[in-house]
This record gives sequence, C-alpha cells and structure tokens, in this order.
Amino acid sequence: MSKLPHVGTTIFTVMSKLAMEHNAINLSQGFPNFPVDEKLISSLESVARESVHQYAPMPGSPDLLNGISSLIETAYGRKNDPTSELLVTAGATQGIFATIQALVHLGEEVIILDPSYDCYEPPIILTGAKPVRIPLSDNFTPDWQRIEDAMNDKTRLLIINNPHNPSGKVLDASDLEQLATLLEKYPKVILLSDEVYEFITFEKKHISVNTIESLRERSVIISSFGKTFHITGWKIGYLIAPAALMNEIKKVHQFLVFCVNSVAQAALAKYIQQTNPLELGAFYQQKRDDFRQLISTSRFDLLPSEGSYFQLASYARISDEADTDFCIRMVKEYGVAAIPLSVFNADGHDRKLIRFCFAKTTDTLTQAAERLCKI
Ligand SMILES: Cc1ncc(COP(=O)(O)O)c(C=O)c1O
Repeated sequence: MSKLPHVGTTIFTVMSKLAMEHNAINLSQGFPNFPVDEKLISSLESVARESVHQYAPMPGSPDLLNGISSLIETAYGRKNDPTSELLVTAGATQGIFATIQALVHLGEEVIILDPSYDCYEPPIILTGAKPVRIPLSDNFTPDWQRIEDAMNDKTRLLIINNPHNPSGKVLDASDLEQLATLLEKYPKVILLSDEVYEFITFEKKHISVNTIESLRERSVIISSFGKTFHITGWKIGYLIAPAALMNEIKKVHQFLVFCVNSVAQAALAKYIQQTNPLELGAFYQQKRDDFRQLISTSRFDLLPSEGSYFQLASYARISDEADTDFCIRMVKEYGVAAIPLSVFNADGHDRKLIRFCFAKTTDTLTQAAERLCKI
C-alpha cells in the first residue's frame, strides 16, 4: 500500500515534458534560462582545485554560514548566530522536509494556505500528521479569521509563503501583525515561513519574519540560493531558526543528507562576498515589466505581480475550458507552456488562471509574447 497514494508526477514535470515534445517555449516550470554570473563560475572553477571534495561539516561550511549571516544582517539588520541558528540545506525542499519531520508529531495538524507550493503536504502525511488546507482570499491575502477558525490544540505548524508562488503576492505589514496577534493565542504553534523569493520583490518591500521579534522566536525561515543566484539545479538553500528548534531540525538533517554538496558550498562562500542580492528585485522588475508590456495587447488579463518571478493571467476572455485543458492546448497549438493554477489547490478550484514564469531572456519572453498575442 502506497504511503502517498495521491502523489503522482508533478504538473511541473508534466508541462516541461510536453513543452519539449512540442518544441514549445517553456514558461511553466520556475527556472531561469539565462547564464549565471561569471563571478560564480570563476569561484566554482577556483574552488574545484582546492581541498573541498570531502564531507562538509554537518550544519554547513563555516565560511558559507558566516556569509549567510552577513547577508541576513545586510538585508534585515539582524544578527543570526551562524553556529546555532543557521543550517545549509539541499535546497529549500530538503529544509522543509527536515523541518516538518523534526517538529511535527503523529496526529498533529499543519495549516497550509492554498494555492500552495507542492512540497509541503507530502512530508506532513509521511509523519502521520494531517494537512489542513485553507484557501487564501481572492486577492491571495490570508484570511486570518478563517485560519484562526481552523486552529485547535492539535495544530503544530502554520506554513506561509511570502513572496508567494504562484500568485506573486507580497504580504503587508498589517498581515504580519495579524499573524503575530493570532499566534500569541496558540503558544504551541510554530511558523514555517517559506521566503525563497525574499530578494525578488518590486514596488512593495518584502518583510521577513526575521525582522519581527515575536514571530522569529517561534519560526523556521527557509531560503534558496537556487532562486537568489539563478542556480536552481544546484539545490542549495538554508534555514534560519532559534537554536532550540534548529537542534531538533539538525537531528533529522544529519540522517537525511548528513551534509550538503561541499563544492557548491565552497563556491557560494566565495561568491556571496562579491555579490549583492538586494539588486535582484530591480533585475526581475524589468523582466516583469517587459513581459507585461509585451503581452498587453493579448486577450489575457494580467493580475498584479508584487514579487517572485511569476505572473498570473486570466484566460477567461479566451475560453471557458478547465485550466489544465487550456494549458495543454496552449502548448500543443500555440507552443507556449504555462502552469494551471488549480493544481495548487487541494480542491482543484479553477479560476481560469494560469502562471507564467518570466525568469527568461528577453528573446524568450519576446517570442513567447508573439505567440500569446495570437491566442
Ligand atoms: C515557494 C517555493 N518553496 C520552495 C521551493 C523549492 O526550492 P528549492 O529548489 O531550493 O528546493 C520552490 C521552488 O520552486 C518554491 O517556489
């Protein structure tokens, strides 16, 4: 009997495969198609000749942990202890898995806000806990009353994702205040704050849980170098958590991977000192603006994108097909792949919305837009 009977091949794999088969432009899966920074390549080349090829220390190489600590201080004006509050992980996915395995017990409940990224639910089910999926409101802000109504003495973890995939929503200060007030009533509940797109925000600034005293004491924050440095294939990220929680997470981490790829850690430890992720927002804002401009004459209606590298679009003026059918037809007939939003919802709720990834070269975005404008 399967432990995960409802898990199949994810839509990201399905759409990327379809895109390949139909020679389509792939704006579905979230990965950049432009080159990585030359400085990172040089750093990788130079560390390859050093003695970096054996196991790294279990929580991460000290140089990289110190680099992460400085990055957090620059970004948020907050000092984290690199030895007790940080952990280098094999991407955000492994950090999330280890966190859930370490902190959630059999029979407890974990609240997930839909539409939600797909790597939260399976580790909850594997621990024998119950995922409780609560819809975000129509404009993708959390409905705090509805979340509170779902909380009870079994609730152990609340997962938020800010900036949000797939909607690109960035939480306001007032949302985080309401969250802090809500959690005060539930001392047992831990917050898992998925902030992998922390440096990709535009007009509105990202507020990290790390800057809110009452929240960070009870939070595990997740980030991903895949997103920050355009290296999704390296699968490397990090967790920030108070020492007591981190101790528990490390117990799982050491038996899940023991340590993360030593070469990647060494290269990033060098590179992190030579780059400024705070410039990433402006870089992606340009791409967002270009993409929106390029498809402004199409029949798609664009929703706001405040952060992340995703743009939601409504195709309601084009068709009333189910979103998955529409995406499949779009690949086959028009040669552009996107992700249907319904797959991010537990109940498959279909709002005739699809997600485009604009982390692509200007050429790719221009060609995709030409095709999208013909639909
Ligand atoms: C919201 C969110 N969380 C986590 C991840 C996983 O990140 P990683 O590739 O570092 O495991 C992604 C990747 O797309 C994501 O969008």
